[in-house]
Amino acid sequence: MSIETVRVDLPGRAYDIRIGPGLLDGIAADLAPLLRRPRVRIVTEERVAAAHLPRLEAALDAGGVDHATLVLPPGEGTKGWDGLSRTCEWLLAEGVERKDVVVAFGGGVVGDLVGFAAAVLRRGTAFVQVPTTLLAQVDSSVGGKTGINTPQGKNLVGAFHQPRLVIADTGLLSTLPERDFRAGYGEVMKYGLLGDADFFAWLEGAGPSLRDDPAALVRAVRRSCEMKAEIVMRDETEEGDRALLNLGHTFCHALEAATGYSDRLLHGEGVAIGCALAFELSARLGLCPQEEPSRVRAHLAAMGLKRDLADIPGDLPDAEGVLRLMAQDKKVQDGRLRFVLARRIGEAFVTADVPRETVAGMLHEALAAR
Ligand code: GLY
Repeated sequence: MSIETVRVDLPGRAYDIRIGPGLLDGIAADLAPLLRRPRVRIVTEERVAAAHLPRLEAALDAGGVDHATLVLPPGEGTKGWDGLSRTCEWLLAEGVERKDVVVAFGGGVVGDLVGFAAAVLRRGTAFVQVPTTLLAQVDSSVGGKTGINTPQGKNLVGAFHQPRLVIADTGLLSTLPERDFRAGYGEVMKYGLLGDADFFAWLEGAGPSLRDDPAALVRAVRRSCEMKAEIVMRDETEEGDRALLNLGHTFCHALEAATGYSDRLLHGEGVAIGCALAFELSARLGLCPQEEPSRVRAHLAAMGLKRDLADIPGDLPDAEGVLRLMAQDKKVQDGRLRFVLARRIGEAFVTADVPRETVAGMLHEALAAR
């Protein structure tokens, strides 16, 4: 099967995203042009280490690349100050220099944490993303957003620091728990909804069997990365267009906060519900055709994904409570919430021009249906 390459062509910081099954086994050759000396340091977490680290180590051994690995505990709790200091101090103890390559081997937690550690280590050290979840392959490993969580909220401390290379081995996704795969799919679908109606239409057919169709999976990851790369090249630091990538996220972040960032709602599930709500809101405001929200929900149902507030187990705050949580969003400017809405499937835009009562009314109805 063919390996695809997407180029993120940022001036002075251009890099490739390599996509395809089995890439991990040839990683030494992909890394070679980046290595000043044949040596890398890897940071991962326990579940990824158990499933895939021996393969990565064997591939580096075969290529004559010296390596050592820090294995962190799994889960969002690792992505904080303690995880950051542990990672930085280990990398320094290992004698990592600015031009050495640090490998982030894992999902979004590892990628964000290690990317941030690399951003601040010696004021900026090279790093490579080897994402092992669908969510990380199509979103968090690409585009250079790195960071950690603090008691005040998620990703509030961080930096833009682009990787030198992303290796998305789609074969690694076969060991992902089904729920994590589906949640990651929420981000794949987001790309179709925000900017490519043909991609969304293709996903309506291919999505339900994506996991069992390696060629379709490569196509879905490639198109997602291509779209993300295009947006990041236009607006690396989110002055404008990059906010489109947050379709569904204003609702998602509030719902994640309301459910205590627990497994009641995974991030990608929140994105899926958030996309459905963004289309519902767009239709209520007369911005997009009335049938679009139903089409979005029908696809989420076909994918076995959450699509309504009613699908979230346990208690939720009332509409005012959800709105208060939404006001914590990073997109708030001068106290005004900014939403990513849509004119139709495949055409999203950012606006601050949304009457609060329309959002409150929609949330009130959605919560009453629980
Ligand atoms: N995940 C949104 C972004 O990278 O901008």
